[in-house]
Amino acid sequence: MASGGAREFEGRLSDVAEATESMLDTLLSANPLPGETFRPARFLQAMRYASLGGGKRLRPFLLIETARLFGVEGKGVVRAAAALEMIHCYSLVHDDLPALDNDDLRRGRPTTHKAFDEATAILVGDGLLTYAFDVTADLATHPDPAVRAELVLALARAAGIGGMVGGQVLDLEAEQAKEPHTAEAVIRLQSMKTGALLHYAVNAGAILGGADAEAKAALSRYGQALGAAFQVADDILDVEADEVALGKRAGKDAERNKATLVAALGFEAACERRDKMASEAISALKGLGPQAGILKEAAHFVVARKN
Ligand code: IPE
Ligand code: IPE
Ligand code: MG
Ligand code: MG
Ligand code: MG
Repeated sequence: MASGGAREFEGRLSDVAEATESMLDTLLSANPLPGETFRPARFLQAMRYASLGGGKRLRPFLLIETARLFGVEGKGVVRAAAALEMIHCYSLVHDDLPALDNDDLRRGRPTTHKAFDEATAILVGDGLLTYAFDVTADLATHPDPAVRAELVLALARAAGIGGMVGGQVLDLEAEQAKEPHTAEAVIRLQSMKTGALLHYAVNAGAILGGADAEAKAALSRYGQALGAAFQVADDILDVEADEVALGKRAGKDAERNKATLVAALGFEAACERRDKMASEAISALKGLGPQAGILKEAAHFVVARKN
């Protein structure tokens, strides 16, 4: 039986998922924007396939709920959240390509390169990545150009060479490594490939919420710890969950010699680390008041999730 806090969390997560879905649906409509010439129909269909109708929408949740701690909500916040989800969806489409993890199942459906073709999947990633910055930089996201520029810069840093993309590079290099990676090396890799976008979600919410320096620092610590807990949980689920629950293939990390914390520390110690990072995330929220309870529930969710 879910506790009151957990029930509230589930309700909010489902509201955010709905708002994100509807925003993505609008943004990915057939109508060209000013300055665009034409949106190719089959390609748009593939972009929609890659981003609509699935996923937990945890990154939009963290962005929207963090901004809400400061009483800031509305269409602009949902746009910023949908833009972040576009980057996440692009990272999944590319992660699944034959040249990367070579997966055929994602969110319970064939991966984008299976449902369409490889060239389309590469371009879907390019399209979602570019559009995320378009949406973030647009006046409709925030009236203050300084706020929009801050978001664009933070998103670029989180998604790029020293963030998600760099982490994916380290992840692929690790598959070829002769010696197993140390836990420290895996922790750094994971803070980049997965942590960076989750960290951005919380930081972007704080930027949009107009948080003061102290609240920003506390939320940044929360986002970092939550991101770490999230990827260890992903590694654990790859070992213990089944394909139907996951909506993606299980047991593939060991098969591909992936550098995971389960490989570096063992299953039990990986679970301990997941729980410890979730507790650290919760500790960082002290001082943010009772409204931050929803973010505490998000940390519990990251530990307890089944997919
Ligand atoms: C999967 O992310 C990829 C990782 C970064 C581990 P999610 O588990 O958030 O995937 P969706 O969005 O819910 O499908
Ligand atoms: C994916 O990590 C991280 C990114 C997409 C940036 P994984 O390769 O472990 O994610 P899954 O297990 O395929 O979802
Ligand atoms: Mg991968
Ligand atoms: Mg993968
Ligand atoms: Mg994984």
